[in-house]
Amino acid sequence: MKTVALGLVLLAMACAGSKPATSGSKGKVSAMDAMGLTPPDSPWEQMSVADREFYMIGKVNPIMQELFAGHDAEEYGDFDCVDCHGEEMREIDFKMPAPSMYIVPPEGTPGHRGMLSTFPEAVAFMEEVVTPGMGKLLGIENYTCAGCHPSEAPKKKKPKKAAAKKRKSAKPKG
Ligand code: HEC
Ligand code: HEC
Repeated sequence: MKTVALGLVLLAMACAGSKPATSGSKGKVSAMDAMGLTPPDSPWEQMSVADREFYMIGKVNPIMQELFAGHDAEEYGDFDCVDCHGEEMREIDFKMPAPSMYIVPPEGTPGHRGMLSTFPEAVAFMEEVVTPGMGKLLGIENYTCAGCHPSEAPKKKKPKKAAAKKRKSAKPKG
């Protein structure tokens, strides 16, 4: 009887201790609790790159750190910008999806089925938590895997590509 009661007390203590927002000894407030999955004050499309970076540093990164660590503390204990943006993030001006990210093949392809069988847990976490969470943080509806993951291997420098790029930038806006 006594041991059961003690066990319950310990369990209750453990539960209270696992809530970051309650007066823990370190007094660290959870970013998720403090800010939540809310959109930026002004539409993402209209934000300057500097404002976007500030938003990433102040909100997206700390909240995503908690989500990833909550999913797998060992693997994502030191989650940071590079996990989404890749090692080359500064050279490519934080362009997304980062070419070095894991490739998510288009749905219905053998590659996509292979991904599902190789990474069932990662995919579930991505579908249920990461993708909708990112959409909410950016205020963009129906956010997809393609926001962070390339869907095909980067094409090896073909001369065609440079020409296509030129044509695109020469096109008048509107
Ligand atoms: C969970 C993934 C994730 C993390 C972590 C993250 N970012 Fe981002 N970041 C994105 C995505 C996705 C975009 C592009 C959003 C869009 O336009 O759809 C982006 C866009 C940006 C942009 C804007 C680039 C442009 O040209 O519009 C900057 C700058 C940036 N991130 C910097 C950072 C920095 C610095 C950190 C770390 C403090 C960081 N990001 C952490 C996912 C992430
Ligand atoms: C906000 C950005 C973001 C979005 C959106 C996103 N992912 Fe991810 N994904 C990541 C990050 C970050 C990792 C971890 C990369 C690492 O381990 O460094 C990851 C890892 C993965 C992995 C594991 C790869 C490996 O090598 O272990 C798979 C599989 C995956 N994502 C699939 C998906 C699928 C499918 C979707 C859409 C349903 C999706 N992701 C949407 C950011 C994102």
